[in-house]
Order: sequence, then structure tokens, then C-alpha cells
Amino acid sequence: MAKAVLEVRNLVATFRIDKKEYPVLRDISFTVHENETVCMVGESGCGKSVTTLTIMDLLPSNGRVVSGSIKLNGQELTTLTRKERNALRGKRMGMIFQEPMTALNPLLTIGRQLTEGLRLHQGMTKKQAYDTAVEYLEKVGIANPQDRMKQYPFQLSGGLRQRIMIAMVMAVQPSLLIADEPTTALDVTIQKQVLVLLNKLKKDVSTGVLFITHDLGVVAEIADRVVILYAGCKVEEGAIGEIFSNPQHPYTIGLMKAVPDVEAEEFDIQPIPGVFPNITEEIGGCRFHPRCPYATDRCRSELPQEIEISPGHTVSCHLVKEAQE
Ligand SMILES: Nc1ncnc2c1ncn2[C@@H]1O[C@H](COP(=O)(O)OP(=O)(O)OP(=O)(O)O)[C@@H](O)[C@H]1O
Ligand SMILES: [Mg+2]
Repeated sequence: MAKAVLEVRNLVATFRIDKKEYPVLRDISFTVHENETVCMVGESGCGKSVTTLTIMDLLPSNGRVVSGSIKLNGQELTTLTRKERNALRGKRMGMIFQEPMTALNPLLTIGRQLTEGLRLHQGMTKKQAYDTAVEYLEKVGIANPQDRMKQYPFQLSGGLRQRIMIAMVMAVQPSLLIADEPTTALDVTIQKQVLVLLNKLKKDVSTGVLFITHDLGVVAEIADRVVILYAGCKVEEGAIGEIFSNPQHPYTIGLMKAVPDVEAEEFDIQPIPGVFPNITEEIGGCRFHPRCPYATDRCRSELPQEIEISPGHTVSCHLVKEAQE
């Protein structure tokens, strides 16, 4: 079995709104191994970005981790100081966002931004950092890298900027790469190139990738395993083949049904009937029960425990459990 890079266990996080705390992540556990891509999917607001921000220690000021564990290469992160966590960020874990401009400094040249991280995190000399930056720009398919190094972010297209972000993050050779909808803003052909590129770099460096996306086409293309979130809870997890061909949770089944055609170029997760709850809403029992066509009294009153239905395939649903018994 490949080495675990990221282990998240029983993670509970809250947001404070009007002096009250509301759970946003409710007991989330999952693992990302070396050279593995785990896709996290679920409707808007289910907690995907909050999960990534919690791992990166970038939660907004009204958010906090209440309990649980986050380990990177076996090292517990939740007990580290802010300074220690800042040091890990950029060095052992990198993040790519939907809009690369949020992470690129508009006032600095591409070359400066690429070499700064390498000098800081890898202790490279100016010359080594320059050569490595050029090498990674080539790896991400950027022509004339020396010229690009002199340019500013605004002089580049969105697709180029995203490639540069990937080069910047991967040049540091992180153990963990977190990508939050990194291709959503790009057109389909560029999207595809970026995914192919990420996969290649992942293999080169043996990085574990946590990839957030709405697009099940992207999931089908790159995921080794899939984690399905619903309203702050993990409802199902399994290998890509299991999730697509043998989904168990009614929510996962709903998501898969909403997929018009697996061969289509682009297919987004479609909202399933009913209203997605916001975090201030208290729902007893299974969080999905108000939208579940099969809900029983037990679903309305008792939170389902996670069960493993086959090795590596877990689901939290009373009905699946009862069917197994
Ligand atoms: N600073 C904040 N204060 C209060 N609530 C917040 C804050 N940031 C996010 N939330 C809430 O936390 C929940 C999870 O948000 P998150 O951004 O993780 O969703 P997401 O799954 O990434 O959605 P999307 O697919 O739209 O990006 C949402 O209900 C959101 O409204
Ligand atoms: Mg998000």
C-alpha cells in the first residue's frame, strides 16, 4: 500500500455567525496516499473549500477547528503553531485555486514569484532557482520560458496563469497538492491540458492530490478515489469505479443519475430535488433525510454510522446498513 500523505480524522470545524457557532464540517475522515488523486465532490456549500482551507490553515477568522486530527506525512498539524504551519505551506503542501490571480502577485514578474518560493522553501541559490523555474515552465508546456519569466501576470491569459501556478506549486515538489476547482474558469480544451499536466507532475513527484470539482467528467478523468460530501458530512467514499458503477448512498445515486452522459465533454453535478440546507439549519438524524426519497423514521432521528460495504468503499446510510444485515 502506498504511503499516506494526508490523513484527516474526525474533523469538526465551525463558523461563528452572530455570536453562535455552527458546525460546517461534521466528523470528516479521509486519506490521500502518495501518487493518488482523491476527488472531493458535492453540491455548492457542502464544505469542500472549507475542508481545503482547514488543511491549509487558511480558515477565515470566524472559523475554527473544534476537534479531529490532520496529519501530513504522519505529523499532526492541528497542534502546531501558526508559524510552524506557515512554514509547511508552500513547502510540503501547495494549493491551486480556481482563479490563479488570487495567488499570483500582480506587481511581481513571473520569474520573481517562481524563484522566490524555491529560494525560500528549497534553499536554492539564485541561479539554481532560475534554472528550476525555467525547467518547470517547460514541464507545464510554456514556450519561451525565459521571456515569460520577465512578464507580469496581467500580460498572460487565464490558461497560462493557471499553468504558471501549477509550475510554481509543483517546482517545490510538495507531498500534498490541493486543487480547488482549478480548471473551472478555463475552456474545455485548456482544461484537459491542465489535467493531463497535473497527472504527469503528480507521477514525477509522487505527490498526493486532493482535487475539488463540480464536474463529474473531470472526476472520471483523474480520480483514483472519490469522497462525497453532503452538508458537512462525508456520505460515501470509494474507488472511482465503485462510485460510478456501484453508488450506494441515495445522495450519490442522485448525483450519478443527474449525469446525462458519461461520454459527454462536460457534465456538472446537477442539483437534486429539494433544498440544500445552510449551516445554521439544525437537521436531526441523517442530514440528507429531507431530500431522500427512501427516508424512514430512523433516518429522521438517528445519525447513520459509517459502514464498509467492500474494502475501501464506505457509506453512511441506515438503509444500506439494513440491507446488508
Ligand atoms: N466565513 C464564513 N462564515 C460563515 N459561513 C461560511 C463562511 N465561509 C463559508 N461558509 C459556509 O460554509 C459552508 C461550506 O462552504 P464551502 O465554501 O466549503 O462550500 P463548497 O462546498 O466549497 O461550495 P462551492 O461548490 O460553491 O465552492 C457554506 O454553507 C458556506 O455558506
Ligand atoms: Mg468551494
